[in-house]
Amino acid sequence: MSDTDDDAFDGSAENSDEPTPVGVKLGSTRTVIQLLRDGELDTIRTLTCLATYDDPITGTERVLYGEQAAQEYPDTVEFMLRSGLPEDDARAELAAKFFTELIRAQNIPEDSAVVYAIPTIDNEAGLENLTEVIEGSPIGQAAIRSFPESLCGSIPAMGDGLEAIDEVFVSINMGSTNLEACAYRHGEQLAPFSTGAVTGSEVDRRIANAVEEETQGRVNIDLTTAREYKEEHASFVDFEPFTDVIQQPGGGSHEFTVNRGLMDPVDEYVDEAVDEIANNFLSELANTHMKPYQLALGKPIALTGGMACIPGIAEEFEVRLSAELSRDVTVVTADRPDLAAAEGAHRIAERIAETL
Ligand SMILES: Nc1ncnc2c1ncn2[C@@H]1O[C@H](COP(=O)(O)OP(=O)(O)OP(=O)(O)O)[C@@H](O)[C@H]1O
Ligand SMILES: [Mg+2]
Repeated sequence: MSDTDDDAFDGSAENSDEPTPVGVKLGSTRTVIQLLRDGELDTIRTLTCLATYDDPITGTERVLYGEQAAQEYPDTVEFMLRSGLPEDDARAELAAKFFTELIRAQNIPEDSAVVYAIPTIDNEAGLENLTEVIEGSPIGQAAIRSFPESLCGSIPAMGDGLEAIDEVFVSINMGSTNLEACAYRHGEQLAPFSTGAVTGSEVDRRIANAVEEETQGRVNIDLTTAREYKEEHASFVDFEPFTDVIQQPGGGSHEFTVNRGLMDPVDEYVDEAVDEIANNFLSELANTHMKPYQLALGKPIALTGGMACIPGIAEEFEVRLSAELSRDVTVVTADRPDLAAAEGAHRIAERIAETL
């Protein structure tokens, strides 16, 4: 995108020599990028997946990513990240291909200051692979920094600026392949915790099983369908049973209703998340950092990540965690918890760009 000559006469036009601040969250299910374009906040949200095919005319490899790849190549599409990390060299290569294609297609400026929201996970090889992808990418020529995903995701939950960076508080990130929690003390991580046992993807598996049970084995839905049911219908506020139709193999169709098959797994998810947070993460934090623990529990706990989008989940989590701890805690979320990490990363990138 090039500036027109008119910009020279517009006092409000941004100096085009300055690098563009960009926030990026690479997640196992979704990647989110945020940046300003022509003064407007642009948010790019896409599935973190890739499919390739050979061009029928030239024979060269073509790369598709995101929703298009998932729709057109459902059998071969690859989601290459686990807990937000490429676990081996082959997946690192796929992640690099995916990210390069995304940047190219979305026209993200190379002259940029980029902040990456990255998982807090004890996986050195995976983190190294991610670093390679980040540093090998064409963007971030002015600066590249990374911050914990749960810290970035808390930023828009805690205020309009960077308030979260100056606080002592607890953040919980509800992702597709892990549940992360951490206390932050002016940006420093205390007792970082993560588990792959309580996840959005596990909820999808349970929904698929529960729907099969609810329909006496007549309906088998795949995990993508289960995820879509969850994202469209799950709610602690106003859940309504809904119907869907499958085509029968021999022709004809079968209509079925999903009722408890959706909300039972979501309800279990909240119970299991509360249990992990109270009995593993918070007990460890209390043991290792008694004072910050007390301080942090007196303040709102930030809930981020895609699973925090389920209407009413923050209130539900607050009630159940308060009961488990036998003390009142409060929970806050951003307007869009699924976009929050990229939004927070973008705010940090703006601050960094000012210092360049
Ligand atoms: N509106 C929504 N309602 C319910 N669930 C949602 C919604 N949006 C996203 N999710 C779920 O949130 C999870 C993805 O969350 P998020 O984008 O934070 O994870 P990720 O960063 O891609 O994964 P990970 O952190 O495991 O690497 C998925 O299970 C997804 O189905
Ligand atoms: Mg994540």
